[in-house]
Amino acid sequence: MDTQRWAAVDDYFTEQLVPQDEPLLAALEANKAAGLPPIDVAPNLGKLLYLLAKITGARRILEIGTLGGYSTIWLARALPEDGKVITLEYQPRHAEIASHNIRRAGLETKVTILVGAALDTLPTLAGSAPFDMIFIDADKQNNPAYLEWALTYSRSGTLIIGDNVVRSGKITDAGDTDPNLRGLREFLTRVGNDDRLEATAIQTVGAKGWDGLAIARVK
Ligand code: SAH
Ligand code: DHB
Ligand code: MG
Repeated sequence: MDTQRWAAVDDYFTEQLVPQDEPLLAALEANKAAGLPPIDVAPNLGKLLYLLAKITGARRILEIGTLGGYSTIWLARALPEDGKVITLEYQPRHAEIASHNIRRAGLETKVTILVGAALDTLPTLAGSAPFDMIFIDADKQNNPAYLEWALTYSRSGTLIIGDNVVRSGKITDAGDTDPNLRGLREFLTRVGNDDRLEATAIQTVGAKGWDGLAIARVK
């Protein structure tokens, strides 16, 4: 596998097409300085989330898994003036760093970070639903439950995106019983079998290795 060349092409696309201003670069730097795992979406994937939010005219976005708020910034930037992102994060320290990054980007009025296990905070969100777009990117073992909540909080046309559905190909290693992989497989099985959804998934290679995204639309 040619990981260096994948990364070089990602860098090239990012340089050509995905200008990152000070707040985006500063968020990545702050995350690194704080020792957060470097598992934020790649810049070109952040821009894809932004474009999808714009294309669908999203005004209310739910994100499960904030980390340092890098993907949150991309999503919030796609919103109209009165738009909102609610983002759910288990680790108080991650949420704290994200809060600084989001403030630096001038997006604090558009973003609410809820700290706690997403399965505890999700039931409190009925008043903010339906969401127009939902990005699932936290602990993958709970993806099946997150999918149920996503459907509960959707309307016709809602876009549900699941990150990291490839995991260097491990998604098809049935013998790999890691709970995160099992969660991802169950998530994909449910997405595929649910008559309320139409979906696809794509593999990606690049700066973050070999991974991919599932994209579903609520009918
Ligand atoms: N979306 C971010 C990356 C998220 S990484 C970006 O692209 O920039 C996954 C995050 O999910 C981590 O910060 C982790 O602490 C958080 N997480 C893990 N388990 C969780 C849970 N049960 N509820 C909410 N967040 C959780
Ligand atoms: C991991 C989690 C992510 O959300 C990601 O984008 C990459 C890696 C992880 O837990 O390893
Ligand atoms: Mg991810």
